[in-house]
Amino acid sequence: MEYIVINGQNPLKGSISISGAKNAAVAILPAAIASGGVCVIDNLPQIEDVCNLVAAMESMGAKCKFENPDTLVVDTSKITGHTLDDKLAKNTRASYYFMGALLGRFKYADVPLPGGCDLGSRPIDYHLKGFAALGATCIQEHGVVKLRAEKLRGANIYLDCPSVGATINIMIAAVFAEGTTTIENAAKEPHIVDTANFLNKIGAKIGGAGTGTIRIVGVPALGGGEYTVIPDPIETGTYMIAAAITGGDVTVENIIPKHMDSLTAKLREMGCTISEGGDWIRVQGASALRPCEVKTAYYPGFPTDLQPQMATLLCRAQGTSTITENIFEHRYRYIGELKRLGAQLKVEGRMAVTKGFCEFTGARVIASDLRAGAALVIAGLCAKGQTVIGGVSHLDRGYERFEEKFRSLGADITRIQRDS
Ligand code: EPU
Repeated sequence: MEYIVINGQNPLKGSISISGAKNAAVAILPAAIASGGVCVIDNLPQIEDVCNLVAAMESMGAKCKFENPDTLVVDTSKITGHTLDDKLAKNTRASYYFMGALLGRFKYADVPLPGGCDLGSRPIDYHLKGFAALGATCIQEHGVVKLRAEKLRGANIYLDCPSVGATINIMIAAVFAEGTTTIENAAKEPHIVDTANFLNKIGAKIGGAGTGTIRIVGVPALGGGEYTVIPDPIETGTYMIAAAITGGDVTVENIIPKHMDSLTAKLREMGCTISEGGDWIRVQGASALRPCEVKTAYYPGFPTDLQPQMATLLCRAQGTSTITENIFEHRYRYIGELKRLGAQLKVEGRMAVTKGFCEFTGARVIASDLRAGAALVIAGLCAKGQTVIGGVSHLDRGYERFEEKFRSLGADITRIQRDS
């Protein structure tokens, strides 16, 4: 078993380069299955989710070769299978994007229901309704989604809520639908735009990505091409919050500052000093943090994927703060573990309320999902004494070399192996 050990209270200082965006990379890789050519995908984060998807692509006959640790050359001209193995699908939630890619290109897909972080029920009904609107039959048998179509036809699809997964999945399939598809109430997250840009680079005709209405004009086939994944806004935000909680001075580099507007605004409200340039943001902590209210929302609102990290920071503010989780019903599961470190907050329905400034003290805790793990690391960095975090595999799924990166900023953080 692996554990992360943190001896807290070192203010983080220095600069850090941000990796490629996990949630863009995990959409672009399955989308490459739809290409039928050779794609060179650069700035991939070195994380378990990417390794798992590459293994899944290889299992379907894609030829994958890393030119360097973050550049993958993938040839999908000879796909031999349209069925994804159960274990490979359960390793990562993004395996659901193989549905759109295989259905679009081959009109045939057998993809098991996905795994991923346990944040509530996480249905995929909007994805399936979208595929059906394009003309596919969708049958669910023994936990496998079976999609078949003679051909796909463009349709007007309205999403009940702007689901990231459904928007991307339908967009990938619709690339091959005859005529024009319109996705209304589409998600606007940066990784939607990035996936659309990748697909357009290899021959798709997608307009409006990043707005609530996406229009896709179908094409018969895609080709290959080179593409660079955008920087990760959630990794960026995690380091920004870590800088704030340790009273540090950190510059996050190789980023898109605009993607961070909702977090930057909140950190300023709390008293941090933030400056930014073309591709960097500097966060200087405050001697006393002010409380504030945070509500998660679809982009450009405050991201749910930074909610656990932000709640941890709010525990250090001088006064009561509230955080409201509007996207996932069970994204407060980390709070029990955070309380072991001294957090004082209680959950009332969708809202978590902090009591005011708390002193974190080191303890043994377990990460229950990816961002829960990030929140525990952040608490450990400002805690008095030693924090030992289990469930490290969750962090490895989504953060590249995080101990190394935190260490380069002055944190006392190591990974150890031990039996229990
Ligand atoms: N929803 C449905 N039906 C659907 C799809 C979604 O009811 O068919 C609901 C969900 O239950 C949820 C809401 O709609 O309440 C939004 O879900 P969404 O589909 O947007 O989320 P997702 O595609 O499952 C992606 C990210 C998550 C991120 C969310 C929200 C990937 C692989 N995952 O999940 O990332 O939290 O969007 O931004 O891109 C993470 O990185 O830690 C992570 C969990």
